[in-house]
Amino acid sequence: MEPTAIDVFAKARGHERAEQLRAAREADLLPYFRVLESPAAPVVRMEGAERIMLGSNNYLGLTGDARVLAGARDALDRYGSGLTGSRLLNGTIGLHLELERELAEWMGTEAALVFTTGHQANLGAIGTLLEPGDTVVVDSGDHASILDGAVISRARLRPFRHNRLDRLEHTLQRAASDGGGVMVVVDGVFSMEGDVAPLPEIAELSARHGARLMVDEAHACGVLGARGAGTAELLGVEDRVDLRMGTFSKSLASCGGFIAGPADVVDYLRIASRPFLFTAAAVPAAVGAALAAVRVCRSAEGPELFARVLEAAAHLHRGLDALGLHVVEPTVLPGGERVVTPIVPVLVGDDWKAVLLWRALYDAGVYVNVAIHPAVPPGGALLRTSVMATHDDATLDRALGIFERVVAEFEAEHGALPRPPAA
Ligand SMILES: Cc1ncc(COP(=O)(O)O)c(C=O)c1O
Repeated sequence: MEPTAIDVFAKARGHERAEQLRAAREADLLPYFRVLESPAAPVVRMEGAERIMLGSNNYLGLTGDARVLAGARDALDRYGSGLTGSRLLNGTIGLHLELERELAEWMGTEAALVFTTGHQANLGAIGTLLEPGDTVVVDSGDHASILDGAVISRARLRPFRHNRLDRLEHTLQRAASDGGGVMVVVDGVFSMEGDVAPLPEIAELSARHGARLMVDEAHACGVLGARGAGTAELLGVEDRVDLRMGTFSKSLASCGGFIAGPADVVDYLRIASRPFLFTAAAVPAAVGAALAAVRVCRSAEGPELFARVLEAAAHLHRGLDALGLHVVEPTVLPGGERVVTPIVPVLVGDDWKAVLLWRALYDAGVYVNVAIHPAVPPGGALLRTSVMATHDDATLDRALGIFERVVAEFEAEHGALPRPPAA
């Protein structure tokens, strides 16, 4: 037998983005892997300069909260720097069990299971509950970790067009003849556009077609609903959502994730979910911080924080809109409800324009996230701005002033940015 002539490393050199990446690096235009030099506060230090942080998922601003820091510190002092083992073996500590109990109470479910990351929670739930012969129905805007879970399950993947209920219905009709079980998985709040899934209608369609429904509440948990339990709570469908996933890496100011749902399903994941079993438990400080953050959310202060982050989002949205930018509008659900989330994206369209505008804002002292294809559809590049409960109006107004100046200069040089569609 001849040795293979195919080098698996070749793709690292010749991939389709290599040229773009090289050009962006040479011009110092790469918006990714920028180095943060301070905590994720409303104003940060990044690469030697102060910048207003409009690109963090620290929605409640709890990463610097004294109670959350104490939770992390106490766990570090008590259990050391790492657990060096799987939850199954030597990696479970009392804090995990307390956290799981409190998460289940908060979500109003029988049980919850804590994973080392949110990505693993999605992988671990979807990849374990679905198997070859089953079908997983996903929104085309779902987070990559949901798709990864579907891939490792080896179930049939049936995507439907983003938030299109008619397409979902059609997909569920087709899935019925696939021959196995069906689970619909959607983001509650979509991570790039910040829009919201019409969960009442999705729950109704899923139930009508005998499908289970799982909702990824990564961007909604600790933000939406009177208890901050997420989109399912806000839209009054908690009892019609079978499984809820959440992460600690956003509102909960730490790192890790969870699945909340019926006790038998959670117990099954505890012994069968490979991304849960075959990885080390999170470091104690991460678990202690998440527990403290959950407690803040569940205290009387929680609803004040949820309201504050949404007020900050509305303020930023109004300001960017007043500059004539095409700000993605808050979702209006089929029932007429308008849902504001902490994610306020500005549509730019062209990938290179988005990167150039990002750089101009960065140089002027505002950090935002850039989403280009494949994170968004081709031609749908956007600047993803997001706010924290700790952003005050003065800081947001300062950022808006910078936007105004930078956009004027940018348009003079590169042409007009997309305008909002006529009302
Ligand atoms: C919608 C969504 N789901 C899941 C995840 C994964 O969570 P984690 O960062 O905890 O791995 C993220 C973000 O990273 C997300 O935005």
